[in-house]
Amino acid sequence: MIESQSKESIVRHRYAAGAKERSDKLCCPVDYESEYLEVIPREVIERDYGCGDPSRYLVQGETVLDLGSGTGKICFIAAQVVGPNGKVVGVDMTDEMLEVARRNAPIVAQRIGYANVEFRKGRIQDLALDLEMLDQELKKEPITDVASFLRADELAGELRVKHPLIISGSIDVVVSSCVLNLVEPKSKPQLFDEIFRVLRKGGRAVISDIVSDEAVPEQMQNDPELWSGCISGALTEGGFLAAFENAGFYGIQILKRDVNPWRTVRGIEFRSVTVEAFKGKQGECFERNQAIIYRGPFKEVLDDDNHRMERGKRYAVCGKTYNLYKKAPYREFFEFIDPIVDVPLAEAKPFNCSRTSLRHPKETKGQDYNTTTEPNNKCCDGGSCC
Ligand SMILES: C[S@@+](CC[C@H](N)C(=O)[O-])C[C@H]1O[C@@H](n2cnc3c(N)ncnc32)[C@H](O)[C@@H]1O
Repeated sequence: MIESQSKESIVRHRYAAGAKERSDKLCCPVDYESEYLEVIPREVIERDYGCGDPSRYLVQGETVLDLGSGTGKICFIAAQVVGPNGKVVGVDMTDEMLEVARRNAPIVAQRIGYANVEFRKGRIQDLALDLEMLDQELKKEPITDVASFLRADELAGELRVKHPLIISGSIDVVVSSCVLNLVEPKSKPQLFDEIFRVLRKGGRAVISDIVSDEAVPEQMQNDPELWSGCISGALTEGGFLAAFENAGFYGIQILKRDVNPWRTVRGIEFRSVTVEAFKGKQGECFERNQAIIYRGPFKEVLDDDNHRMERGKRYAVCGKTYNLYKKAPYREFFEFIDPIVDVPLAEAKPFNCSRTSLRHPKETKGQDYNTTTEPNNKCCDGGSCC
C-alpha cells in the first residue's frame, strides 16, 4: 500500500529522471502543429510526456497557466499562439523539470523575438503556495522541532495570502497535458477548486488528460509504476467531467477523445481526452424581460444551473444567463429575444433562477403592444418574403 505522500514522491522521483533522460514508457503520441515546434530546442521536444495539445484552443493575447509544465513544450507553443501581448506561466513541482524549462526559455524567447513565458515552482493542487519562497524562508528558520514545524505551517499559510504563487482571478485559460491524474485522490477536489480560483470570471480550462472507461481498482491504484505512469490515477470519463461540474464550472464539453486507447491494463482502457470548462455562471440574477429559444437538435436540454428547456419554446431567463448563452459554448444553440423596451440593470428586479418558466411573447413586447405593420422588406435575403 502506498501512502498519499509517497505517491507524490514517486511521481517527483520518476519525472526528475524523465527530465534528465527521455523515458519512452511515459510517452503518449501527440500531434502538435509543426510550425510551433521549429523554435523549440530538441531536449524539450524529446522529453515530452503529454497526452494532448490544449494549446490548439488558445487565442492571441490570452494569459495562460500550464499545470505540470514539465520541460515546457506546451508553454513554448502557447507563447507563440498568444503572441507578445499574451503571457504564459508554467507550474511544476519537480526541480529537474523546471531546470530544463527555465534553461530553454531564453532560447525560445530569442528565436520568437519576445519573452512571455515564465516557470514557477508549486504543487498544482495548492497554486497559492510558492514553494521557492517557502524554501527561502525555511532556510532562515529551519524545521528542527515541533514548534518550528508548526511555525513553518503558519508561514506557508501567510505566504499563500501575502504572496500567492498564482493570484485569484488572474488567468484567462488554464491548460494542462497529462498531469491531473498524477494528483493523489484526496487532493483532486482541491485541485479542481484551485483551477476555478485562479481563473478570471469568463475564463476557461482546457485540459488534456488520461481517463479510464471503468473505475480503477484500489490494487492498481497502489501500484507505483502504474500510478506514476499516468495510468492508475486516471479518473473515469464521467468522473473527469463531474469533477469540473462539482468545482462550479459550466458548459463542460469533450473537445477531443481518442478512439483508440493509449494503453489497456487488465481489461481497462486508458485514453486521452481534452475537455473544456468555463467559469462565470455564479452571480446575481436580475429580470430584464429577456427570452431565449433553444434551437435543437435535441428535444430538450438541461444546463448547469438546472434550467430544462424544450426545443422551440420561449423561456424567461435572467440577464446573467442571457449573456452567458450569447457566448461560447452555447451561442449557436439559442435564439435571443430582447424586450422592445429595455429594462436598465439599475432598475431590474431580482429574478428567481432556480425555476425554469416559459415567457409569453407579450412579456417581451409589452402588454399594450397592438401594432400592425406593412410587410417587412428586410426579412428575407432576396428582399421579398413570399
Ligand atoms: C506526465 S508529465 C507531463 C509534462 C508536460 N505537461 C508535457 O506535456 O510534457 C507530468 C508533469 O507534472 C508534474 N507534476 C506531477 N504532479 C504534480 C503536482 N502535484 N504539482 C505540480 N507538478 C506536478 C511532473 O513533475 C511532470 O513534470
